[in-house]
Amino acid sequence: MTHRISIRNAIASDVPHIYTLLIPFADKDIILQRDEDNIFQHLQEFLVAEYDGKIAGVICVHIYGKNLAELRSLVVDPAYQKHGIGRLLVEGCEQWVAELGVAKVFALTYVTGFFIKLGYRIVSKESLPQKVWTVCVHCARFADCDEVAVEKVLADVPIQPMTILPIIELEQE
Ligand SMILES: CC(C)(COP(=O)(O)OP(=O)(O)OC[C@H]1O[C@@H](n2cnc3c(N)ncnc32)[C@H](O)[C@@H]1OP(=O)(O)O)[C@@H](O)C(=O)NCCC(=O)NCCS
Repeated sequence: MTHRISIRNAIASDVPHIYTLLIPFADKDIILQRDEDNIFQHLQEFLVAEYDGKIAGVICVHIYGKNLAELRSLVVDPAYQKHGIGRLLVEGCEQWVAELGVAKVFALTYVTGFFIKLGYRIVSKESLPQKVWTVCVHCARFADCDEVAVEKVLADVPIQPMTILPIIELEQE
């Protein structure tokens, strides 16, 4: 039987599904705790994976600045793991941020082997001051954090960002 996997931007009706996917992993401190309000407030940062029309995975990308974005809240429903969905979600984010002109993505993770498979390299957390001094510093585990920082430079990013068409064009006399 052929199965259909697709990656798309999240929409409001996905929020309860995203929340349900994240809870067990947030409870184990593998990912950030988020309530439904928080997911709504960051909805434009989320991609979801559908497996035969069911939400099977989620990822979020947060842009820090000119050349740095963080992959967050990556979870694949355990029932659908090892089908390539995690890879598609990460690659979807990479493509998305590359199109926005951002050249580097990173993650703080316990699944280093997964990210290495996807072409990431281990870096020191100190090389990511935007994260460490804005987010990590507020974390209870700041002093003894055992997550590993991984990053990937996106070779396909255009040196000049793609031409973004104006949303509104006015002609005035
Ligand atoms: C990590 C996670 C997202 C991977 O999702 P997945 O859909 O099972 O991964 P994929 O099937 O796309 O795997 C892609 C490749 O990585 C490998 N891989 C998957 N999980 C791995 C792991 N924990 N360690 C090492 N390699 C792993 C796969 O074998 C596959 O390799 P292949 O291409 O040679 O076959 C999923 O296991 C998960 O949700 N884990 C719990 C939450 C979590 O840890 N999130 C990460 C937060 S940063």
